[in-house]
Amino acid sequence: MTEHLRVAVLISGSGTNLQAIIDEIHLGTSPAEVVAVLSNKPAYGLERARLANIPTRQVSAKPGQSREDYDGELDRVVAEFKPDLLVLAGFMRILSASFVNRYDGQLLNIHPSLLPLYKGLDTHARALADGQTEHGATVHFVTPELDSGPRLIQGVVDVKQTDDVDSLSARVHVIEHKIYPMAVDWLASGRIRYADGDIYLDGELLEEPRRVHCKENHG
Ligand code: GRF
Repeated sequence: MTEHLRVAVLISGSGTNLQAIIDEIHLGTSPAEVVAVLSNKPAYGLERARLANIPTRQVSAKPGQSREDYDGELDRVVAEFKPDLLVLAGFMRILSASFVNRYDGQLLNIHPSLLPLYKGLDTHARALADGQTEHGATVHFVTPELDSGPRLIQGVVDVKQTDDVDSLSARVHVIEHKIYPMAVDWLASGRIRYADGDIYLDGELLEEPRRVHCKENHG
């Protein structure tokens, strides 16, 4: 029997990316298993996990708790599930360098922009303000510097002249739901090797992230 990649997903909110990953795995094509869903606060994504019979944990920060201390506690809970891969899917906390380094090569994030453009918050508004004709989302390995780790896949959408933050973010969300399960599948099926900050896809050094262009669903 194929060994399944044990995936723990960290969320803070609605968990639509979590759902996309669960759905992809349920199709039975990806040798991955979501072994736990963790949140730092009450979140609808925890309910999604329960509905899929996936163990959940809420690890809330205590008042005055330092980042290092919280991350130590988070790490202890994560470790209970012995994951091979940690997937950040809307986890709204910055992780300390020690946590990130401990999971070097095993920690993925999805960010709603075509990195290196628009690190941080308000990505859709900033892309619109700059008059970008393309926008999207990036799946990347996490390194201590925020939104700067090696990039695996980008989902690209065209920006329409009539777009506002809501319409653009909705389209970016749709493409996130394609590229995040794809990235997890690449890892689960052994297509990715990560060494010293370099990503190899099917044995080839990935100089630039794979781009998936979404022209559908322009509403
Ligand atoms: C996504 O937009 C993702 O890019 C960002 O957080 C959001 C999570 O959305 N990191 P959801 O909870 O998966 O719907």
